[in-house]
Amino acid sequence: MTQSLPTLHSPNLMAALARMQSISLRDLLETDPKRVERDVVEVAGLRLDWTRQRLDAAAWDALHALADEAGVWSALERQRAGAHVNTTEDRAALHMALRLPRSARCVIDGHDVVEDVHEVLDAMAGLVERVRTGVHTGYSGRAIRSVVNIGIGGSDLGPRMVCRALQPMAPDAVDGRPLEMHFVSNVDGAALDAVLRTVDPETTLFIVASKTFGTQETLTNARSARTWLLGHAGGDPEAVARHFVAVSTHAGRVAEFGIDTRNMFGFWDWVGGRYSVWSAIGLPIALYLGMDGFRAFLAGAHAMDRHVLETPARGNAAIRMALVDVWNHNLLGACARVVLPYDERLKLLPAYLQQAEMESLGKGVRHDGTPVAEQTGPLVWGAVGTDGQHAFYQLLHQGTRWEPTEFVGVARAEHALPEHHPILLANLVAQAEALALGKTADEASREMAAEGLPSEVVARLAPHRTFPGNRPSTVILLERLDPAALGALVALYEHKIYLLATLWGINAFDQWGVELGKQLAGRVLEDFSTVGAGHPHDPATTATLAWLRPRLTRS
Ligand code: F6P
Repeated sequence: MTQSLPTLHSPNLMAALARMQSISLRDLLETDPKRVERDVVEVAGLRLDWTRQRLDAAAWDALHALADEAGVWSALERQRAGAHVNTTEDRAALHMALRLPRSARCVIDGHDVVEDVHEVLDAMAGLVERVRTGVHTGYSGRAIRSVVNIGIGGSDLGPRMVCRALQPMAPDAVDGRPLEMHFVSNVDGAALDAVLRTVDPETTLFIVASKTFGTQETLTNARSARTWLLGHAGGDPEAVARHFVAVSTHAGRVAEFGIDTRNMFGFWDWVGGRYSVWSAIGLPIALYLGMDGFRAFLAGAHAMDRHVLETPARGNAAIRMALVDVWNHNLLGACARVVLPYDERLKLLPAYLQQAEMESLGKGVRHDGTPVAEQTGPLVWGAVGTDGQHAFYQLLHQGTRWEPTEFVGVARAEHALPEHHPILLANLVAQAEALALGKTADEASREMAAEGLPSEVVARLAPHRTFPGNRPSTVILLERLDPAALGALVALYEHKIYLLATLWGINAFDQWGVELGKQLAGRVLEDFSTVGAGHPHDPATTATLAWLRPRLTRS
């Protein structure tokens, strides 16, 4: 698929850029009475607020023209209809089909996949019911108490983030407590070791989650977990059947590993790893929240799909989000987006989005293999508020570089100390305001004079106590953090990513950039144990290997 990239240098966009570079956010906020009406969208329990972006009505017009020119509507329709939008792997990217209701139809390559999707959901529901009611027991007949998900990247981050976010909503299992959830991703043995020290082999269910079932980290951890279990279960292979289930697209490798494929929950190659939380990869979520909770998560995402597919561009949250990123990165020159959830439950959202966005959008060539002419994926990073305020916000407010920020907050607290909540959210609102408005030298000086500081101190400190402001942010507020709202939020980001890829003409669904490191790690691993000449390496790598080889802990 060759795409003609719309120009980011249209006269209207260039005029908008020149205008926005000569007016501050402070002035825009004061002089544009339509801002709130125009730049806030409410959908599926979310309130998205772009009023603090450096955009006026005409700049939005120019951006929407860009979206039209890039063909965002036909791109969405092609994706929905199952076209092979993942061009380098010749596959559809149909995570939307995973959240369709049972009554819907979605034909991919001549086959309606909705039935398959619901068949797997029903199978998941069966296991969830058996585990949560204590019918599915471990080798000694005791009910399952802990679940350990072994997976990495897209087979880890989604369920890990969602389970943490919805922790207050996890219902009690058979023994009157929510299940204990653990996630092991890193091949560093310390990660699995730490979990195995806390769980009881008699009551632990392992989920080995890997789309390919060929990922070194996951298989290494899964083998060690199996050895640990067999060690406790007297080597009884029947224990593996009771304590291990697999989630994968690859039945052959699952069987080869030693997990009965009757204990496998499948998905399909048209589900990308980082878009797979809606598939059986979401099994930890279903076990933790119950199937109703998981289905509500899917329904929230489906509501967002409908919004994105059906809402005209100016009210369309995903199109606007994508355009804001293009504006900040390609026109204003930012290189990162800082994700700042003001909610402990959303602590893992930055990490989740890091994979979703950076693995999807970190591309240097278009679909047709030609180099992209502009910057693509922003660096995505962030941390939970208010912690970040006492760590890196200094740079966000007064550093020489500016980066756009994205605040995420939830109106309703779900814990026993709700009196903290206004303090938390006051900080979110204040930070967005401070970044946008800043503080002029005059204001800083007046403040210091009012504090009674001598005029020479006022003059000396004024530059240090001045804030440039004009630093854009988006504020996303949720009424409540429940499965539906979280599903809608995650789906919104997914749509934004695809639309950005469309605007840049790149493939959001492959990840060739992770392959080289994997390949070389295989060779280096062999060379750790090779005496004499192993694989050829550059001098720096050879020297590193020579230092490490005699010192490395191997067993
Ligand atoms: O990091 C590369 C990657 O392929 C991701 O895209 C994927 O989510 C992760 O590895 C795990 O892959 P798998 O689910 O096949 O084990």
